[in-house]
Amino acid sequence: MPNTKDIYTTGLRNAHAMENQALSILRPQVKRIEHYPEVAERIEQHIGETEKQIERLDQLLERVDGDRSALKDTALSMAGSMAAIGHTMAPDEIVKNSFANFAFENYEIAAYKSLVALAEGSGQADAVSLLQANLDEELAMAEWLDKHIQPLTMRYASLSSGGVDAKN
Ligand SMILES: [Fe+2]
Repeated sequence: MPNTKDIYTTGLRNAHAMENQALSILRPQVKRIEHYPEVAERIEQHIGETEKQIERLDQLLERVDGDRSALKDTALSMAGSMAAIGHTMAPDEIVKNSFANFAFENYEIAAYKSLVALAEGSGQADAVSLLQANLDEELAMAEWLDKHIQPLTMRYASLSSGGVDAKN
């Protein structure tokens, strides 16, 4: 049976794959945005944050586990690309992506809360500040998305009513 440190190590690997998946979802999205510059700007910012989050996870993984599975990461990151492609057929792509991004950020928040508990419970207390840094960025991104769901939806409605192809 895995002990707490094993569970923590697996959780770190999963978080690493999760962040690569986040990049593979956000990068194609941001390239397609035309009418929502503040969304593009915030996503660009979060892409930069996510790259730093992956570096923090790399540091933590090096402390507990030298032998990481890059293959698993790749498979998950391909699944992420598929998820991003999934909404490109939707006439309200920008709106559906805002739902998916909000859901994904909340998944990440839960993952980091779980990892903070596992780090504390397996004698890795020095890892907590790095995990908390990632968690704080996910909380801020989720809050931003939460605030923008309604104005974004209404801008999509207004542009569409004016005859604009406002999906991106
Ligand atoms: Fe995130």
